[in-house]
Amino acid sequence: MLSQPVSRIHLDNVSQSFGKNDNQVHLFSDLTLSIEQGRSYAITGPSGSGKSSLLMLMSGLEVPSKGSCYYINDETTSPLQSLRNHIGFIFQQFHLLPELTALNNVALPLKLRGQKDAINRAKEWLKKVGLSHRLHHTPKQLSGGEQQRVAIARALVFEPNFIFADEPTGNLDTKNASDVADTLFDCCKENGAGLIVVTHSDELAARAQHNFSLKNAANQFISSTSEISPC
Ligand SMILES: Nc1ncnc2c1ncn2[C@@H]1O[C@H](COP(=O)(O)OP(=O)(O)O)[C@@H](O)[C@H]1O
Ligand SMILES: [Mg+2]
Repeated sequence: MLSQPVSRIHLDNVSQSFGKNDNQVHLFSDLTLSIEQGRSYAITGPSGSGKSSLLMLMSGLEVPSKGSCYYINDETTSPLQSLRNHIGFIFQQFHLLPELTALNNVALPLKLRGQKDAINRAKEWLKKVGLSHRLHHTPKQLSGGEQQRVAIARALVFEPNFIFADEPTGNLDTKNASDVADTLFDCCKENGAGLIVVTHSDELAARAQHNFSLKNAANQFISSTSEISPC
């Protein structure tokens, strides 16, 4: 039987540091890892250990100070930036557009892709995250948890190949956190997307098939592959 082509993101001997001289911050050195589409990954570690920075590198939104990041589809290798239109990113600070309603924030990625049913699909996604009653509110009229759910709907609405989520349940109560986790993992399963979640929640991390943990002290990187449950 022929194996399915594997689509993956590969970080090759990557190091990341910021600043100069006395102000220099080293986050990680010579890190090599792969993320496959269709699988789920958790990144854990203390505050300031570099989780968000690692997510930015994996998604191609930032470049490393050393090393290379690629997108490999079957046998074709391209720059990670070529994946830009196929990634959904849920930022820790949401980054919703303040002048747009929840509905228009979620419809925007579809409109930018020229999709005619953008508004209806955005409504469906806002319903999935429990926000049908907040379609016409702007971000500042929404609570932190509601904004987070809008950001999640916006990242998933165009069915990306890879979903990056930076502490996606950080502002949510237990019930909403559990619903949002279900939405993320269901989306990964239904669309065969790769899911990479930064989290402080042991419960959320335990749902991922693989775990990467960052240590604070020497900022060492530990990768453990735990086949806990299928995505
Ligand atoms: N663009 C940047 N310039 C300078 N320092 C940065 C930058 N991005 C992150 N850092 C520093 O890198 C460290 C790790 O940040 P971050 O990746 O946000 O950690 P975490 O998400 O684990 O809390 C922090 O000390 C932060 O101040
Ligand atoms: Mg962070």
